[in-house]
Formats: sequence, structure tokens, C-alpha cells
Amino acid sequence: MIYLKTPEQVQQMRTSADLVSRTLGEVARWIEPGVTTHRLDTIAREFIQDNGGRPACLGYGGFPGTLCIEVNETVVHGFPSTYTLREGDIIGIDTVVEKDGFMGDSCYTFAVGDVDAKVMDLLRTTKEALYVGIEACREGKRIGDIANAVQTYCEARHYTIVREMCGHGIGRDMHEDPEVPNYGRRGTGPVIRNGMVICIEPMVNMGSRNIVIEGDGWTCRTRDRKPSAHYEHTLAVLDGETHVLTTFDYIKEALGDRFI
Ligand code: MF3
Ligand code: CO
Repeated sequence: MIYLKTPEQVQQMRTSADLVSRTLGEVARWIEPGVTTHRLDTIAREFIQDNGGRPACLGYGGFPGTLCIEVNETVVHGFPSTYTLREGDIIGIDTVVEKDGFMGDSCYTFAVGDVDAKVMDLLRTTKEALYVGIEACREGKRIGDIANAVQTYCEARHYTIVREMCGHGIGRDMHEDPEVPNYGRRGTGPVIRNGMVICIEPMVNMGSRNIVIEGDGWTCRTRDRKPSAHYEHTLAVLDGETHVLTTFDYIKEALGDRFI
């Protein structure tokens, strides 16, 4: 069941969306060779709590961190750990913040120092695919239009789409209907209506699209261990307009000329 939001509720959701965006901006300042992902997790948790929010991933279904950590071949849902970032790694940071009863969800994949040009192209393409998906999110169109736009964009560039995981509605819960896949056919799926708040989050692989879940029951990685990238925004449809509630502007501010 899709819970449509009132304009007042969307206004409230801007608060949680802004806090999750600022959290990624804060984490961005600390991403460099030598830092552990556990340290990044602590920084994020303290930042969220200091700003009156609740780290919604922490304890969700038993998840042990504030941040989902996605290093190199990890697609989604990796745990914070004692792993130390190295020059040439990529790291996706995906997190959800609750503030005043609503959730905000965003993800950004960062380069750690100098990263191989081919991997940088994967990052750039995946981020562009997110915006292509947002562009396709129009009142009166369908969820399959978003899905198809993302898929077409990535596959034309010879990347592959992870199919087992998808975007979602969001509100008082982290995951609400509808599901927002990153592959599919135009003109299919639920109609996009005013009051819908959804997360679009392409997960794009350099090699095959196949994934495996590790023995911890959470960590999802590419089967061929080639890199995977992931970007996510929370957006709302109101009065026939699409509003992106989360922003990468704080990340841009933190990274300066390292922002791609
Ligand atoms: N942010 C993820 C998503 O987009 C969810 C995190 S799963 C959790 O669906 F368990 F860590 F919360
Ligand atoms: Co999400």
C-alpha cells in the first residue's frame, strides 16, 4: 500500500532529508587512506545524534551500524569494520536518518585518493543514471519509466544493473511501497502520483550483474568481485513537480575540486 504524503508531511520530510545529506557531507571530510570504516560510522552516528536525529539503520533487523559500508565489490549492506581505506578504493556510504517521525535516505560512492579511470567512469555513470531516473520521475508517468531510463542509460555504457535490490517508497518507514527497480519496461508499474515520496538508488556493476550474500547474512557483493557503485536520493512529487529532497551539495562543499 502506497502512503501518499500531504504537502505538510513532505515539508517535514525535508528535515530528515537535509540531515541525512549533511551527514554524508560530514563523513566526506574524513574519507582518506588510513581511516577505518568503523571510525566513519562513529562520526556519522555522533553527527546524527548531535543534530537531533536517530540513525535508523542501527539495529534495523539487527544491522550493526549507522552506515552501510560498500567498499569496492560490496554492492550494499556491508558492516562498518576495522578495514582501513586504501588509495584506489571506492566506498559507498548509504544511510537513513529519522527526524521528527520521518525518514531520509541517501547514498554516495566516494573515491579514496587516486582511483583507476575505468572505475571513475563507473562512478560517474552511476551518478548520472540516478539523475536520469529522477528526470523520468514525472507525475502521471509510471515507476517502470524510471526503471527503464536507469537501465537503458547504464546498459548503453556496458555496465550491468543489480536486480535483486531496488529503490522504494519512504516516509514514517524506511521502506514503503512502491518498489522502485532499476530495470524494467516503460509504461509498467504504479502510476507516479502527487504525494509520492520515493528513493531512487541505482546499484551498477562493472562486470556481471550477479551478486552473492556473504555468510553474515547482510553483506552483498558482486559475484565476480569487480567494483559496484551506488547513489541514492529521496524525492517527492507534489503539484505535478518532482522535488529532490536530499542533496549532494554538502558533499560537494566537503570535497571541493575532488567532487565529480
Ligand atoms: N539505505 C538502505 C536502502 O536504501 C537501507 C539500509 S538497510 C539497513 O534501502 F538495514 F542498514 F538499514
Ligand atoms: Co534506500
